Amino acid sequence: MSSSPCNPAASDAPEPGRARADGQTEAISAQLTRLRRRLERLEPLAEVTVTLPRSGRSFSVVRPVDIDRLLDEAERDPEEQLPYWAELWPSGIALADALALEPEVVRGATVLELGCGLGLTAAAALRAGAEVLATDYAPEALLLTRLNCLANAGREPSTLRLNWRRPSPRLLAAAGPAGFPVVLAADVLYEERDVEPLFRLVGEVVAPGGLLWLAEPGRHSAARFLALARDAGWRGSAETWDGPWPDPLDERVRVTVHRLRRP
Ligand SMILES: C[S@@+](CC[C@H](N)C(=O)[O-])C[C@H]1O[C@@H](n2cnc3c(N)ncnc32)[C@H](O)[C@@H]1O
Repeated sequence: MSSSPCNPAASDAPEPGRARADGQTEAISAQLTRLRRRLERLEPLAEVTVTLPRSGRSFSVVRPVDIDRLLDEAERDPEEQLPYWAELWPSGIALADALALEPEVVRGATVLELGCGLGLTAAAALRAGAEVLATDYAPEALLLTRLNCLANAGREPSTLRLNWRRPSPRLLAAAGPAGFPVVLAADVLYEERDVEPLFRLVGEVVAPGGLLWLAEPGRHSAARFLALARDAGWRGSAETWDGPWPDPLDERVRVTVHRLRRP
């Protein structure tokens, strides 16, 4: 882990083989510096390199270092939300890997991500050629997602602050009458109170016949969500990831990536 500034030259170009004009590289560097300065006013930051277990693709992810301070702040949050956005979760890594292995699923599509956290999955979707609307409860997560996407995919996603318990009309407007063809969500089902709101929300924003790619590490609330989806006629396949994960404490974590199609 190092605290060096993001280096756009170290990231993969979103369209391999096409050189970027100098002016474009400078514009990306300037925007990375602006985003990084905004974030450093909020948090001390560090950078960690993540290698996706199956595709072997690498991402350089900036994240806060002082989780204790964030936990203190979270005590004042009206929804009692803990700062889970500040960590890199195996589910986000597995979902990014699934996108790296099957980029054609999202290439050219506008996809929605729920609970984007640090933005690794959004960066993988951008690298795969998608347009991305990344959403999260935490404004800091949205800024970090913009920074990490720009550093790793050379592009920023659109972002929207969202509490999925009270979905913003702006999200429903962005979904439009057709809905999103693909919705991504990694480790968003860890509180029982979120199962019904998230199930209602995906029913509103995934297009009929569209896909929900949900990565989850076997929590009870995810099992309840999946049972609701099965009963409502969602069908699909599932594949399991065993790591290796960057954090040795996650050694035993198994993530399932569900590819569910809305009826
Ligand atoms: C366990 S983290 C997973 C982050 C990321 N997807 C990953 O896998 O690394 C859960 C994410 O959901 C977000 N979240 C939690 N409750 C939320 C809510 N009610 N509305 C929107 N986002 C929420 C958190 O801020 C956090 O970024």
